Amino acid sequence: MRTAILELLKHNAGQYISGEEISRNLNVSRTAVWKHIRALKQSGYDIEAHSRLGYALRQNTDRLLPAEIRAQLTSAVLGQEIHYFCEVDSTNNEAKKLAANGCPEGTIVVAETQVTGRGRLARSWFSPFGKGIWLSVVLRPPFGPMDAAKCTLMAAVGVNRAINAVTGVGCGIKWPNDILWNNRKVVGILTEMSAELDVINYVVIGMGINVSIEHFPSELAPIAASLSVATGRSISRVKLLAAILDELENVYVLVKKSGFAPVLAAWRKESITLGRQVDVRGFDRSFSGVAIDIDADGALLVKTPQGVERVLAGDVSISPVVSK
Ligand code: BTN
Repeated sequence: MRTAILELLKHNAGQYISGEEISRNLNVSRTAVWKHIRALKQSGYDIEAHSRLGYALRQNTDRLLPAEIRAQLTSAVLGQEIHYFCEVDSTNNEAKKLAANGCPEGTIVVAETQVTGRGRLARSWFSPFGKGIWLSVVLRPPFGPMDAAKCTLMAAVGVNRAINAVTGVGCGIKWPNDILWNNRKVVGILTEMSAELDVINYVVIGMGINVSIEHFPSELAPIAASLSVATGRSISRVKLLAAILDELENVYVLVKKSGFAPVLAAWRKESITLGRQVDVRGFDRSFSGVAIDIDADGALLVKTPQGVERVLAGDVSISPVVSK
């Protein structure tokens, strides 16, 4: 009944429909209508109630509500269990708690805003309300901990494909986990895991997608962008989120069937790092060189005057192309 009431409100989005009309249309009491409306409001739907006019669903609500996401999903595993928060400390923290308590593979956590969103290398992640997709996915991959880092590359390929399919924006992947448009970061990925020596308990892939942020804090303004600015039009977060889950599931299924080689090949094609002069800041050393490839472990291979260096972790910045 709740879904039927919601459909009726959606059909009349932006316009009032009286409680009496809903009750007549769906053959349900007015008290029941009121209770369902209250439950819909509690689950995040923006419904206005007017004593004389009835109920109206605000137009253009693009909340990441589970029912809205499910209606767009085609994936079989990812997103079958959805935990939605208006506000959360970090979706990765929440996903790790759920995973440790045995939630099924494919469980996702989404939030409208994160109070302490986290990035790589202990950085914070700017996560304003309703302006992005702050998402974590729990996987229980059947491979060993050594392969976990490649989940980040796999996620980057999936997210990049979804962005391209939904928005038409051509972005590129910067090793290992950033998606850039016009040299500015639109997506960051933070993969965390719990593992034994030879088996992964779970992997949490956290993705931050800047969808419609217009004003970034001053330290981010020169290096970050959002997709609606890139396209010049508004983007449905629900549609994009569903596409991300579908594409991520496609690449994950491929990895489980054929190993990482096809995904690494796709990553190479979509990379904006390969062939470029890069500066690498590792935990114990810094150097510069030309990024020539990634190896079978997903490590970046950088050619320096001293030889080829293998980079498994650290910060890589791409030097600007100098025009002659
Ligand atoms: C990075 O580029 O440094 C990675 C950023 C990852 C941000 C996402 S937002 C959803 C998830 N929850 C977090 O706290 N972080 C990740």
